[in-house]
Amino acid sequence: MTGQSHSSAHWDQRYLSGDAPWNSGIVSRELVRVLAEQHVVPCRAVELGCGAGTNAVHLTQQGFEVLGTDCSAIAIERARALADEAGVSVHLTVADLCRVADLRETFGEVAAMFERECSFLFDRGCYHCARRVNLAGFLETVEWLAAPNARLLLLCGNANELTQQGPPKVTEAEIRSDWGNLFEIEWIREFHFEDRGGIPGPLGWACWMTRRSAA
Ligand SMILES: C[S@@+](CC[C@H](N)C(=O)[O-])C[C@H]1O[C@@H](n2cnc3c(N)ncnc32)[C@H](O)[C@@H]1O
Repeated sequence: MTGQSHSSAHWDQRYLSGDAPWNSGIVSRELVRVLAEQHVVPCRAVELGCGAGTNAVHLTQQGFEVLGTDCSAIAIERARALADEAGVSVHLTVADLCRVADLRETFGEVAAMFERECSFLFDRGCYHCARRVNLAGFLETVEWLAAPNARLLLLCGNANELTQQGPPKVTEAEIRSDWGNLFEIEWIREFHFEDRGGIPGPLGWACWMTRRSAA
């Protein structure tokens, strides 16, 4: 896999410097839409690369038991502060999702609750970064977390976006190739990430998938 490899220090620095355009503080419209459309009922859920916690807190407020995990300690610190402010309890941990051992080690006593027990997974912007570093490791972690028949809502950058800026771009064929063994892809459609100060957000893919039963 080609592309840049980003360390947790890189992500910490982006949060500290404010160079984090994805971090709008607005709950993802696509998440809200899909939860309603697909009648997703509260369950054990994980947000992969939860950043500063806006969507993890929202899911918790909707009744989900949420694990939010991110490789940036700064992001997780902010997510903890947001959860405290909202008065909700979210399981939050710093881990590199490309190393399943990392999650197992940092996760300690709650690991057993989430291992193969997550019925809903949400990813807004983590996969399109992690796939450039270690796709196999990232998928191994997802496999470790996802219950049989778990649903995944994946939001990622779209190669059809014409501007150079914005999130890493992925083609529909790449999504199908990356995820097709582990998940049945129900649908893939285009959407726009949240606006930034009146500027329309970049084009993305929204993908809805169901974890295949273990072979
Ligand atoms: C584009 S941001 C999106 C953050 C959050 N999902 C949101 O919508 O605000 C990507 C996030 O993925 C995290 N990330 C990138 N690679 C990761 C990895 N290998 N393991 C865990 N988190 C990772 C980054 O720290 C960052 O918070």
